[in-house]
Amino acid sequence: MARGSNYISYFGGKNKASNWIWSQITPEMKKNTKIFTEVFSGAFWVYLNEDFEFVDTIIYNDMNQYLTNFYASVSDTKYAEHLELLSQPGGLLHFDAKFKPTAKLTYDFYYSYFKDLFNKYRQELYYDKIGQQFNIIIPDFDLAVKYGIMLRHAFSGISNDKQCGFSYSASSYIEGKKCPEPKSQMLIRKVRDEKLINKLNKVKAFEILDFEKHIEKYDSKNTLFYADPPYKDTEFQYYRGAEHFGSFGHKRLSSILKNIQGKFILSYYDFDGLDEMYPKDKFRWESKSFTRASTTISNQTLEEKQGHEILIMNF
Ligand SMILES: C[S@@+](CC[C@H](N)C(=O)[O-])C[C@H]1O[C@@H](n2cnc3c(N)ncnc32)[C@H](O)[C@@H]1O
Repeated sequence: MARGSNYISYFGGKNKASNWIWSQITPEMKKNTKIFTEVFSGAFWVYLNEDFEFVDTIIYNDMNQYLTNFYASVSDTKYAEHLELLSQPGGLLHFDAKFKPTAKLTYDFYYSYFKDLFNKYRQELYYDKIGQQFNIIIPDFDLAVKYGIMLRHAFSGISNDKQCGFSYSASSYIEGKKCPEPKSQMLIRKVRDEKLINKLNKVKAFEILDFEKHIEKYDSKNTLFYADPPYKDTEFQYYRGAEHFGSFGHKRLSSILKNIQGKFILSYYDFDGLDEMYPKDKFRWESKSFTRASTTISNQTLEEKQGHEILIMNF
């Protein structure tokens, strides 16, 4: 499958690093691994980009119910029909590049239409839910559409950050040219992407578990966990950040991973205390620089844009 193919962009997503992460899996492990799961799946980049044909059971897990529901929905073939209906004239996702007499009027119309939807769904899915407990019955197609619109139109996939702005399109409107396509149209195209669907069809379960319960549930000597937790000091960027991850999340994760029967690959940026949690003489450490997709700060030097990704493994 072509690398980089996904439905959304997501803060902290491992699109660029996926092959490096996957290349850590030894031939011996490929023979022995029966379950592969991303403990903090997010946009599921490692699984979606790389070859996991050697594994019987693939599990998606993320405590963000909206996100889990989104991936569970897109993996359901009926979801494509649902989007098809929404893209018909009068439907929520209908877009016609020649809708108004001029491209500028069409652009103005769709810009405010999708911006209103984006703000409405952020209110409904995030701000109205603050302090509330709720359970989504998965799959909920309508909710997946709302969440998809929200993530697609948010800058850099940070949809729960109050500062996050609305982004209409990948290209801006140019005087005299046709109206650019809104970002949410990508959702319609991507659900027809058979390679993506085939990969998601192999996922046996879409879970919404806290990492501790998830690891407990799937641990075995034939399990490979890929763990990509919210990085230190970026926890707040994710839906219900500290509420999900907990103030002692990094320590809690380390005490669990150290005692599993299976294998783990853990991603981080280095921080004070990380090597105490995972001593270098007991765990394998690898590091590599990647250019960070920085959308917020434009005047950084190249060095500042480099992120030094760390992988820690128990094999
Ligand atoms: C760094 S992101 C994962 C990115 C993912 N690897 C990708 O490529 O898109 C971390 C994810 O952990 C999830 N999360 C936060 N706390 C969690 C918890 N306690 N248990 C499970 N998932 C959690 C967040 O919702 C977020 O999607």
